[in-house]
Amino acid sequence: MCSGATVTQPAEQSAPAFDRAHFAFRHLGPRGVGTVSEQRPDGETQRMLDQLGYPTLDALVDAAVPATIRSERPLDLPAARTETEVLAHLREIADRNVVKTQMIGLGYHGTITPPVIRRNVLESPAWYTAYTPYQPEISQGRLEALLNFQTAVADLTGLEVAGASLLDEATAVAEAVALMWRASRAKTGYVVLDADLFPQTLAVARGRAEAAGLPVVVADLSEGLAAGLAGQVSDDAGTLVGVVTQQVGASGRVADLRGVIAEAKESGALVTVASDLLALAIITPPGELGADIAVGSAQRFGVPLFYGGPHAAFMSVRKGLERSLPGRLVGVSVDADGDVAYRLALQTREQHIRREKATSNICTAQALLAIVASMYAVYHGPNGIRTIAEHAHGSAAALAAALRSAGVTVVHAHFFDTVRTHVPARAEAVVAAASSRGVNLYAPDADHVQIACDETTTAADLTAVLAAFTDVLPTSTTPDGHAADGTATAGLPDWARRISTYLQHPVFSAHRSETAMLRYLRKLADKDLALDRTMIPLGSCTMKLNATAEMEAISWPEFANIHPFVPVDQAEGYRELIETLEAQLAEITGYAAVSVQPNAGSQGEFAGLLAIRDFHRANGDAQRDIVLIPASAHGTNAASAALAGLRVVVVATADDGEILLDDLRSKLEKHGSTVAGIMITYPSTHGVYEEHVREVCDLVHDAGGQVYIDGANLNALVGLARPGEFGGDVSHLNLHKTFCIPHGGGGPGVGPVAVAEHLAPYLPADPFGAPGSGTGATASGTPVSATRYGSAGILPISYAYLALMGPDGLTAATETAVLTANYVASRLEGHFPVLYTGPKGLVAHECILDLRALTKETGVTAEDAAKRLQDYGFHAPTLSFPVAGTLMVEPTESEDLGELDRFVEAMVAIRGEIDAVAAGRWSVEESPLRGAPHTAASVTADAWDKPYSRELAAFPVAALRAAKYWPPVRRVDGAHGDRNLQCSCPPLSEYETELEPSGS
Ligand SMILES: Cc1ncc(COP(=O)(O)O)c(C=O)c1O
Repeated sequence: MCSGATVTQPAEQSAPAFDRAHFAFRHLGPRGVGTVSEQRPDGETQRMLDQLGYPTLDALVDAAVPATIRSERPLDLPAARTETEVLAHLREIADRNVVKTQMIGLGYHGTITPPVIRRNVLESPAWYTAYTPYQPEISQGRLEALLNFQTAVADLTGLEVAGASLLDEATAVAEAVALMWRASRAKTGYVVLDADLFPQTLAVARGRAEAAGLPVVVADLSEGLAAGLAGQVSDDAGTLVGVVTQQVGASGRVADLRGVIAEAKESGALVTVASDLLALAIITPPGELGADIAVGSAQRFGVPLFYGGPHAAFMSVRKGLERSLPGRLVGVSVDADGDVAYRLALQTREQHIRREKATSNICTAQALLAIVASMYAVYHGPNGIRTIAEHAHGSAAALAAALRSAGVTVVHAHFFDTVRTHVPARAEAVVAAASSRGVNLYAPDADHVQIACDETTTAADLTAVLAAFTDVLPTSTTPDGHAADGTATAGLPDWARRISTYLQHPVFSAHRSETAMLRYLRKLADKDLALDRTMIPLGSCTMKLNATAEMEAISWPEFANIHPFVPVDQAEGYRELIETLEAQLAEITGYAAVSVQPNAGSQGEFAGLLAIRDFHRANGDAQRDIVLIPASAHGTNAASAALAGLRVVVVATADDGEILLDDLRSKLEKHGSTVAGIMITYPSTHGVYEEHVREVCDLVHDAGGQVYIDGANLNALVGLARPGEFGGDVSHLNLHKTFCIPHGGGGPGVGPVAVAEHLAPYLPADPFGAPGSGTGATASGTPVSATRYGSAGILPISYAYLALMGPDGLTAATETAVLTANYVASRLEGHFPVLYTGPKGLVAHECILDLRALTKETGVTAEDAAKRLQDYGFHAPTLSFPVAGTLMVEPTESEDLGELDRFVEAMVAIRGEIDAVAAGRWSVEESPLRGAPHTAASVTADAWDKPYSRELAAFPVAALRAAKYWPPVRRVDGAHGDRNLQCSCPPLSEYETELEPSGS
């Protein structure tokens, strides 16, 4: 590891110097990459380089990054601007968006984010910088919040088990279609989609089903299932596998679904109902109608419109289907002391374990937005939610009455919040009149206009809508504005009225005052370790700084309150921001075109693989359906390939982690003209810049295949190399890693897909049918998200990062990430072997610490070390990925030397504890490693029977006495949770702890 000269060069040469005003000065952790005055020879950067034996950062980077992949062209991006300048610029962009009253509906509604939730969840780093709760002991706060989400969804939908969020409503329907196929075990057959699903849902669900080879039929079910299917399916179509309908329908109709559900059940089919969570507060829930699955969006539970996302979609199922649920599921278990503890349940069905056999490819989901929605339910409680639902419904009822009395035809007798009117040939004119009065309405065709009411609807809004109609239509009566005061109740028919209760758990009634709510949020946040407290050295996850200035714009109304389907001229700011971002990402990656539509890395993979598939089809090579994937690949790769209808063949990797070229050659030969392409990760998931990547790409190209380079590790390339230049045809990027979108406790994410020129036509099209623009102007591929720009609302974060860092700052970030990883590897390699390194003994931006020999010798596992790190106040590195029994450390560029050394000190101390086991001081079972983590309660209990002291348990290094994070629970028993599956809030009695009578 320590190769090269140990000469200390003059400071100016050792690292780029940033002026104090340059944001890179703040983004980069190690001092010495700062102002020239701070860049002393004994500065942090220099000390780290000395440790590694390299005179300058350039010399280190030259040694670590193979010359064969280095880009000759520096980044052609605008120079860095200050925080003040970037925020002023974003303000100008925001001002180009026009915020109107949004009454378009179609799954996106005005809502009020309670300020206490906006400030203390959405805008709070304690929540938004947390990682996915894979380490449950330090994630109890967010796990509880997600369990509340599951409980609210299960209650409102009337089904037993709900998951902890899906990506959006359209993909949730697609997931439900796949689930019904899985559950039915049918080999042939078809699923019926009700024509009254949202148009974007139909577009996405059809595309996903087609890719996976699952036949679907779209039918008008308003007259029943048999009537709808008449003439639609041939006799040899096979079994009816499932039916998806929507309550409330896209047309605003509240239909009596009992008939359709009964017909479906009679044929043995499963039924999914796409639902509106707010509507379910007053209308009969799907579970009570006999549905098996409910899906939908929780957006209107306090999550801003965000021009389409991010929003938490949900799925709930009846008992018996929970093992087929896609995405994450929070469950209740117990810890080592038998106390209630939460954890992610049933993980063996997820992509990281079952790869292409997983229930879905979802990894990053929408945790932060699910938490916002759950807190909205906690804050308002059952009565509040009902009142809000009644307000939306009452507003619609009052509007319908006023429209009718004005002579306007209201199409549906039964509706919740959306009124559909019949205005022959005048729809466009009505929409224009409403727009000029500051209200956006929806015209599904030339003859109809729909108006969706919501929590924010006022009497003035209704009066404006009425006036828009009377501006355009000859009316028989003058409308009475007072009739539209939002208090009328149309009365849903008896069959549609909900009588069952919901949100009865005490958590939904205990936090009604703002004081109580604020303290509840703080109490949960305090249980968790997020980036605002400690380094999170998770390999492959890139937990770097999510700067406050980058976050600021997302809750400005001009970004937050734009409906995804507004006319283009109301979203000019967004368009400019997105097109600029896409072009800058193309410049960074060396590709021709980028689409930000995918709302997670996994969805970018899916979109990229579909582009490859479509390219081969267009060339008459439809038989190319095999993707080669190295054994070490991230689980989403194989799962996405399966979703795209492609077959996976594994390519072996050598002992040093490199793809085995001989194996690649033989697989290419064996599968010949059926090879669609290869999916590789660069730098590899082993944390190494593979020397032979160009050769790998050339071999695959020579065999007629396409090269997919998983760009989740792009933070090791930005400014140094471009995947589009060293052989890639397509990549996805994770903006929630490299480009500073915070992880949010498991989402949101953005996974743009970037492609070379020849794949640009196959980028995802707009699911709503609008023409393309920007670098993806020719895009006509399968849409992969419900809206054209996916999670548009968080794109200002990455845009701000690029603007703040500029080309030199971005390159320095990459170089510094390489420096910190190599520094940690070098400091720790004498204690834990570093598994893979490049030819010069260097790693890329992360390193794998191998504990397998120690485990063999002592019984102490990598998991023990990970849990013990919690006692030291750290989030564990990535555990057992990509190699079982190892820890993968990614420090990122944002950690300073003090924090890196604190981590090294903890790891060295842990090695000392392992040595003590080896020396027989404690057995592994009785060691502080196996006993970890230690709660305050466990170390202060009267009884203490461990062979190590309480002090060693709690304060293994002295600095902890001054600042200690106490894990709230002891080690969580995963198997118990899976055996006794419980996925909604446990009754309070389960939390009761038996206390010894005082004085005993
Ligand atoms: C190498 C790699 N590929 C793909 C993904 C999937 O990205 P996402 O979690 O956004 O779906 C990840 C996520 O951790 C990853 O590390």
